[in-house]
Amino acid sequence: MTERGSNPKRPVSHAAEGILFSKGFSLLFSSSILVFLLSILDTIKERGSIRRYMIKPIPRDELLKVVEAARLAQSAANRQPWQFILVTDDAVKKNLAVAARNQRFVGEAAAVMVCLANPEESARVGPFEGFLIDLAIAIENMTLTGWDLGIGSCWIGAFNENDVKDLLDIPENLRVVSLLTLGYPDEKPRTKNRKSLKEILHHERYGRIES
Ligand SMILES: Cc1cc2nc3c(=O)[nH]c(=O)nc-3n(C[C@H](O)[C@H](O)[C@H](O)COP(=O)(O)O)c2cc1C
Repeated sequence: MTERGSNPKRPVSHAAEGILFSKGFSLLFSSSILVFLLSILDTIKERGSIRRYMIKPIPRDELLKVVEAARLAQSAANRQPWQFILVTDDAVKKNLAVAARNQRFVGEAAAVMVCLANPEESARVGPFEGFLIDLAIAIENMTLTGWDLGIGSCWIGAFNENDVKDLLDIPENLRVVSLLTLGYPDEKPRTKNRKSLKEILHHERYGRIES
């Protein structure tokens, strides 16, 4: 049984899984030697934005797994106010790169996921319209699932919304929240540069910082 609050572990390597299944009776031996386990926190620690990609297409079923991660995301009142356009056509990707303030790597990714929201479908979250939050969760699900599958990604927030809408025939009432590049990494992610826990965590009330 899993402890409450702890996450089920999953094998990190599909190759190792294959060995486990093909060897059958050596399962115990194999599992102790070959399979090491990666938690979601490990994936979050490892993931970094990737802006250089191999010239190698991503198989359709792998791309669909990435979309599945978005489809299963939580959203306020379960409204799921998202739509996605999966772009793999080179010419269209190049045009998206131009719309994304000429960020050339957008055109070099194997695929670009254009992430749309329908604000009319979205619930309010306190004083906020929920669609940005909902989309952010879905997109982060995709970056983490992509990473798990060996696919690098970069969230693209710098783009001209009208240009993207014109390019892809996106209806007036939908908002383009983000583009997400996807491709097999041809670089290592940068070292994480994050605020320390002390800079962001307060105990019981604002301003009480643990030494
Ligand atoms: C909302 C959002 C918009 C972003 N827009 C861009 C972008 O237009 N171009 C880009 O190269 N990176 C973009 N990024 C990536 C961030 O620069 C990157 O996530 C941040 O520097 C942390 O680095 P890491 O992802 O490697 O951990 C964006 C990230 C987010 C969350």
